[in-house]
Amino acid sequence: MDDYLTTNLLEYDEALEGAARVSVEAGLPDIAVSAPQGRFLTLLVRMVRARSVLEIGTLGGYSAICLARGLPHDGSLITLEAEPRFADVARGNIDRAGVGDRVDIRVGPALDTLPILGDDAPFDLVFLDADKANNAAYFRWALEFARPGTVLVVDNVVRGGTIADPASDDPGVRGTQHMFELMAADPRVDATALQTVAGKGYDGFALALVTG
Ligand code: SAH
Ligand code: DHB
Ligand code: MG
Repeated sequence: MDDYLTTNLLEYDEALEGAARVSVEAGLPDIAVSAPQGRFLTLLVRMVRARSVLEIGTLGGYSAICLARGLPHDGSLITLEAEPRFADVARGNIDRAGVGDRVDIRVGPALDTLPILGDDAPFDLVFLDADKANNAAYFRWALEFARPGTVLVVDNVVRGGTIADPASDDPGVRGTQHMFELMAADPRVDATALQTVAGKGYDGFALALVTG
């Protein structure tokens, strides 16, 4: 079905196909968002008329290209990546996609680069998609950098249903469960989560609006 939608609903996209191909050839893990999910990110950036976006977890730049494409020409995306080699691959892919002027890749563990982002805040939209063990900490930073109206998207919050296991000792599962606890308890955030099926399996994303 993902292939059907990609072929029949989305027009052929050389920049994204190329980014996916180059990333796999460079040995990066094949865990970027799917093409329909990527289009969802582009549309969301456009729908909220975001001018500044923060992403945590760049990988080869696939979702970064999708986010940056939704921005106006003078908009900006800051994307955080721990692995210098992945960031190099992403730089090439993002530049070839023609959105390089809008994208700033900051290399290093996000918990080190987030505290020095203050001057770039607030962000209109934040996409959390890095190491899931730190999802609660990333959620706190996203709120720190938000204003009323900021949209948060958190990827991979279902993971085949494993997130629903209260006895899990997987750090990624526990990190996402902790993120949900914070999200549910925070009076400044209205949130939901949607489950997805796609070429890469059963997963989902959380969507939140900062209200205060
Ligand atoms: N958003 C990408 C996929 C990201 S995969 C897309 O859909 O195209 C998760 C990424 O988070 C990987 O590239 C991984 O290296 C990075 N990552 C893992 N731990 C991190 C950390 N502590 N800080 C920043 N990035 C991290
Ligand atoms: C996986 C998928 C992702 O989208 C991600 O950000 C991290 C890991 C995975 O399938 O392992
Ligand atoms: Mg993801």
